[in-house]
Amino acid sequence: MPRAARFLLLLLAGLALLTVVAYFALTKVTRDWFERDIELRSRLAVSSARQSLENNWRTDRARLTETLTDITRDERIMGAAACSREGELLAATEAYPREFTCSSLLASMRRDAPASADSWSTTPELPSGSVRLSVTFIGGESQLRRAVVLVHDVSYLSRRERTTRNILIIAFFVLSLCAALVTLIAARLAWRRWTNELRKALKGGASIEFLPLLRDVRTLARQLASDREREARGGLWSPERLRATLTQYLDGERIVVLANREPHIHERTADGIAVLHPASGLVTALEPIMRACSGVWVAHGSGSADRETVDKHDRVRVPPGEESYMIRRVWLGEDEERGYYYGFSNEGLWPLCHVADARPTFRAEDFAQYVEVNRKFANAVCEEVDSDDPIILVQDYHFALAPKMIRERLPRATIIAFWHIPWPNAERIGICPWRDELIAGLLGASVVGFHTQQHCNNFIDSVDAFMESRIDRESNAIVQGARRTLVRPYPISIEWPVHWLEQVPSAADAHVGVRAELGLSPDVLLGVGIDRLDYTKGIEERLFAVDELLTRYPEFRGKFTFIQLAAPSRTKIERYRKLNERIDEVAAQINAKWSTANYRPIVLLRTHHEPASVFRYYRAADLCYVSSLHDGMNLVAKEFVAARDDERGVLVLSQFTGAARDLTEALIVNPYDLRQASDALAAALHMPIDQQRERMRSMRRFVSEFNVYRWAGRMLVDAAELRRKERMSGRLDAMARFTRTGNS
Ligand code: G6P
Repeated sequence: MPRAARFLLLLLAGLALLTVVAYFALTKVTRDWFERDIELRSRLAVSSARQSLENNWRTDRARLTETLTDITRDERIMGAAACSREGELLAATEAYPREFTCSSLLASMRRDAPASADSWSTTPELPSGSVRLSVTFIGGESQLRRAVVLVHDVSYLSRRERTTRNILIIAFFVLSLCAALVTLIAARLAWRRWTNELRKALKGGASIEFLPLLRDVRTLARQLASDREREARGGLWSPERLRATLTQYLDGERIVVLANREPHIHERTADGIAVLHPASGLVTALEPIMRACSGVWVAHGSGSADRETVDKHDRVRVPPGEESYMIRRVWLGEDEERGYYYGFSNEGLWPLCHVADARPTFRAEDFAQYVEVNRKFANAVCEEVDSDDPIILVQDYHFALAPKMIRERLPRATIIAFWHIPWPNAERIGICPWRDELIAGLLGASVVGFHTQQHCNNFIDSVDAFMESRIDRESNAIVQGARRTLVRPYPISIEWPVHWLEQVPSAADAHVGVRAELGLSPDVLLGVGIDRLDYTKGIEERLFAVDELLTRYPEFRGKFTFIQLAAPSRTKIERYRKLNERIDEVAAQINAKWSTANYRPIVLLRTHHEPASVFRYYRAADLCYVSSLHDGMNLVAKEFVAARDDERGVLVLSQFTGAARDLTEALIVNPYDLRQASDALAAALHMPIDQQRERMRSMRRFVSEFNVYRWAGRMLVDAAELRRKERMSGRLDAMARFTRTGNS
């Protein structure tokens, strides 16, 4: 039962008890009071008529009756009688009830009252209701005593009691109503405050005090979800469980991944051939899946030594030393790369899908290359499959057309297309001259996945706006003819535990090592930002937030340094080149403003860092600031959490990342709001260890459970389910055809 309802019930029970007690107490007091009043009245009435009564007592019965009648002029005295000491009725008014004989009254009085008493009363019941009889003696000595009996109407007494009771009942109802209203208003106000807080938190403006409540709610939801799932299949998601899922649901068929960026790049260096691991969220997530499931990753062979390391089928076994899966390299000519990768993918689709104040450029020749390269990769995929109904994972915006192309060659394939970046609303996607082709291409897949439900909704709305199809909103599917494409959110994550951490020093060692290496004071507070140099990452805003922190919180001047690791990216595109220069300028400007002989607020490391090195920085830092202006998920945030097995460090996270929905214990900020961001940086630097630990522990629990094996596992299970249904309906169709032919 809700708290407010419980409180209200208690309040009402208390009020009811109070009313009953008040009713009895009041009745008792008023009764006593009325009795005394009657006593007094009787005496007054009798004493004022005493003279006349005494004079006519025995002598003139008619006058005696008259005197008694005078007494009954008081509207509350119904009747009167005069009784002799022996109990003989001497006179009585007309209305005097004859059943009260003098003898019986005097006998009762002798029994109940002391002999010396000069008055006595009783309340007998008459069929018409109760009356009060009072006997008053006149004449001093006992042998001369004369009794005057008065009959009082006490019906007004019960009337008054009834009125009192009614007033109390009305008062009870009014008070109850007031109590209910007050409780309701208080509960509503509290609820509104709570929902505002929740909304604010979900939007990213989470107030720091509120977060524990949100965490409680989420922990509960998570527990329920994971309990249910664990019950159904047993255990947390791990490489083993993913493999088992593949065997159980998909007959252990090998997976073919299509993704532009390859997970292991062979580069020629002065020391020979080196294997590099690119800065790419997609690669971070998918590589562990391939190691767990084996199979083939079809990718662009972009390394300078890639051609030297493949076999005659352009394949190479990776990871070096482990060789658990294969990369199939596809070679691209300069024009192809320019049109497909730099042009349509990164100058067209990338700015189209990110709300980051960048205008997309659409060139027909770029799109023509995009079509050709998609076909080239689709063909390579079809060469790698080992059955006519393989499982193919098509990744990201580089390959929007490939699902349809693969479907044309392999109609029975199970194709899962995952879009790693946001999908914009229908109005925005509508500005792309080839929006119909993009959507139709993706609908070639069996399942289209996005990080968030919002992006799924945007995609479904786009289909609704631009395609001939039926939308099954109940099961979130697009139906075209006999084919269905499921549209589902699958928030991506990272492997757990992260295998790179085996090569990384502990947090304490990284703390000392990184500071010494950069020539920083050993006790300097360290913030870290790790990104590809991309305008969607909000790196400029991040550096300005540091400037704002030093301006508004002087206690951090000389004490806080922010390290920005920036991997050069897509440098052939002008917008990226300009960003490169701009970041340099901003860092120099802030450093000029705050640096001293042995202090620098910004350290910009503009080079590629291998994952082990990146994880060392995560471990050395006091805070990590992810300030993306728009990001599908952002795995840097999850990697920082995974790195901190010491449960220390604070994550400051942009509300415009998919990760902000998962990692609500981070300090969520709007990166455009420099005041808010600098406040969050200050809060992070001031945060007590206990609170850091509590938040970090909760986020670590989340990432460990909702890891990338679960992401892949859920997609594969959904795909398997669809595949089962399709196979079943295929068999039914075949049977129907057979029956028809047999009959004809
Ligand atoms: C984003 C994209 C990935 C891409 C990565 C790196 O995360 O979603 O598909 O691999 O950026 O970009 P790059 O252009 O270097 O592959």
